[in-house]
Amino acid sequence: MAATVIDGKAFAARVRGQVATHVAALKADHGITPGLAVVLVGEDPASEVYVRSKGKMTLEVGMKSVEHKLDAETAEADLLALIHQLNNDPEIHGILVQLPLPDHLDEDLVINSIDPAKDVDGFHISNVGLLGTGQDSMVPCTPLGCLMMLRDHHGSLSGLNAVVIGRSNIVGKPMAQLLLGDSCTVTIAHSRTKDLPDVVRRADIVVAAVGRAQMVPGDWIKPGATVIDVGINRIEKPEGGTRLVGDVDYDSCAAVAGAITPVPGGVGPMTIACLLANTVTACCRANGLPAPEGLTV
Ligand code: GUN
Repeated sequence: MAATVIDGKAFAARVRGQVATHVAALKADHGITPGLAVVLVGEDPASEVYVRSKGKMTLEVGMKSVEHKLDAETAEADLLALIHQLNNDPEIHGILVQLPLPDHLDEDLVINSIDPAKDVDGFHISNVGLLGTGQDSMVPCTPLGCLMMLRDHHGSLSGLNAVVIGRSNIVGKPMAQLLLGDSCTVTIAHSRTKDLPDVVRRADIVVAAVGRAQMVPGDWIKPGATVIDVGINRIEKPEGGTRLVGDVDYDSCAAVAGAITPVPGGVGPMTIACLLANTVTACCRANGLPAPEGLTV
């Protein structure tokens, strides 16, 4: 039977709709407008596209959007001073510093200078520790989006075997923590994992986040498993031009999986939707209000 295609674009539109409803209520009931500041250093074209898209969607859900575009040669002290100013700005509830940063800037130092309560990426060491110990934290956007889709598809994830391929701080490690929090049996596989095909074949849930185009073929997938593809890779088409593909070979995986996310239109749209959700969560917590149900873990 053909796999169910998990429509991340439609799911993300629903999440943005829920965010917009909460934003309207915060304004009407409390006179508060959630604000998101995005900081971009340098002129990486892909980052510029992301930042523009984040700004547009922030405004669309009724939040305040602030963009700071800094020169590629910006001194670390100047970037830290801007973050300090945003940390102390009561109209800003979320701060995102777009990565990667130019080489002369210490990424860990910069991320850890963000107020953890405004760290809507969930990258600050305090948030990493809170997530790892099952306490309220800001949850990284891409894994949060994957978890929302998995919960929606499966209901309970309890007892399922999950294999996360990739051990990045942004996706692999927090994804594993979230799946563990939902009582999955979790394996984190990576480039040194022995017998990777056999490891993946045991999974009821496969999350592929390695950044290698079409690396996972269909014969690694257990029949009926759910495949979440985090990869976004641009490849050459035989007839010329390029196209986007994920980390799994879509056609062969879709032939055996029970459910699968496409690329594009799967995980990608959920990342920005979850960034907006995290900003509302941060705003609610900053004002002593409960975080909206369904928009966080
Ligand atoms: N660059 C690529 N993905 C991300 C992300 O999720 N957050 C930030 N800050 N930068 C990124």
